[in-house]
Amino acid sequence: MSGAPLRAGVVGLGWAGVTHAEAYAGLPGVEVHALAAQEPERLAAVGDRLGVPHLHTDWEDLVARDDLDVVSVAAPNWLHDRIAVAALEAGKHVLCEKPLALDAARGRSMVDAAVAADRVLWTVFNHRERGDVRTLRRYVDEGGLGRIYHVKAAWTRRRHTVGDTWFIRRDRSGGGPLIDLGVHMLDLVLHLMDEPVVTRASGFTHAELVPASIAAAGGDPAGYEVEDLAGGMLRTRSGASIYLEASWALHAPISGNEMAVTLHGTKGAATLVIKDYAPAGVLQISTDVAGTPAETFPVVPRGGGHSDVVEKFVTAVRSGEWGAHRGVEGLRRSIIVDALYRSAEKDEEVDVADEGEA
Ligand SMILES: NC(=O)c1ccc[n+]([C@@H]2O[C@H](COP(=O)([O-])OP(=O)(O)OC[C@H]3O[C@@H](n4cnc5c(N)ncnc54)[C@H](O)[C@@H]3O)[C@@H](O)[C@H]2O)c1
Repeated sequence: MSGAPLRAGVVGLGWAGVTHAEAYAGLPGVEVHALAAQEPERLAAVGDRLGVPHLHTDWEDLVARDDLDVVSVAAPNWLHDRIAVAALEAGKHVLCEKPLALDAARGRSMVDAAVAADRVLWTVFNHRERGDVRTLRRYVDEGGLGRIYHVKAAWTRRRHTVGDTWFIRRDRSGGGPLIDLGVHMLDLVLHLMDEPVVTRASGFTHAELVPASIAAAGGDPAGYEVEDLAGGMLRTRSGASIYLEASWALHAPISGNEMAVTLHGTKGAATLVIKDYAPAGVLQISTDVAGTPAETFPVVPRGGGHSDVVEKFVTAVRSGEWGAHRGVEGLRRSIIVDALYRSAEKDEEVDVADEGEA
């Protein structure tokens, strides 16, 4: 580690931004130097708790500072590209919350800006840092499942929890549970399968339970502009198929919130179920032993998440090896989410555009 501390600025102080700020503050040689948020009390409280010298209510003022090395973007989705591009053009490295952007075109402009500025652009996919997911990834890498040819992944919420916020305005969020939760599951699947090339998408969206509940409460369901259930089938160049699903409200046999993924391979299957954000999920390996079905439940490590992402981002910035981190993985996921929405809209299977290489 060289002498001067790395100076970080964080835009947005919802759950995500506070988590970023705390993660930076916990790293040696890193200083949280500026925060920006539009809730003055929260800004003052977090600033005071973490000893942050510069507090702003508008992101433009934070990005204009010439004393920051890195900027975290934890603002609503529609602001991601504006903040990130401005920060990259000003020479900062950027850690951006998922989804990379409102849509793939905006995501592409962020990747282009990172290349032009020769800076790091990194999308936060924190769930792949979980101990259970890391264990599963190691098992896949060791060949435990053989060749993976079919995957099912779903993030299911039984009840709507995002309320009357930017999340339900299409021009602010880019969509509903698919772009919000589905992109996490898509990341897990692509990460666990070591980045297969997705070629075709057949998507669906529904908006049933949330609009009905808004109407039942005397509200205007038209104010709810996004889906409450979405997903689809993805085809890959290798022939593997992927089924993806995400809901903010669904009658389903779960208590509240469940993330589940099953990888089906030629030698076995692995199912990971994480109920209600449990720090360690249940990992089940299904194989044949002596021609008989057998189940194994590995004891998985607890924890892992945002702090690991922030630490990896900081390590990449310090390494000087910036060319390997231009946000292309985040863009790839945005392209697939776009294709699923496009397919649902057209009511037919669509090509998934090739994002090219940054
Ligand atoms: N990786 C994860 O697990 C995870 C979890 C939650 C949210 N997120 C992502 O983080 C982002 C923020 O989500 P959230 O739930 O924290 O949202 P939020 O609405 O709770 O917080 C948004 C923050 O952005 C600030 N903001 C808005 N406009 C601003 C402006 N012009 N200048 C400065 N600050 C401004 C708000 O004041 C607020 O502090 C989203 O992209 C979301 O998808 C990721």
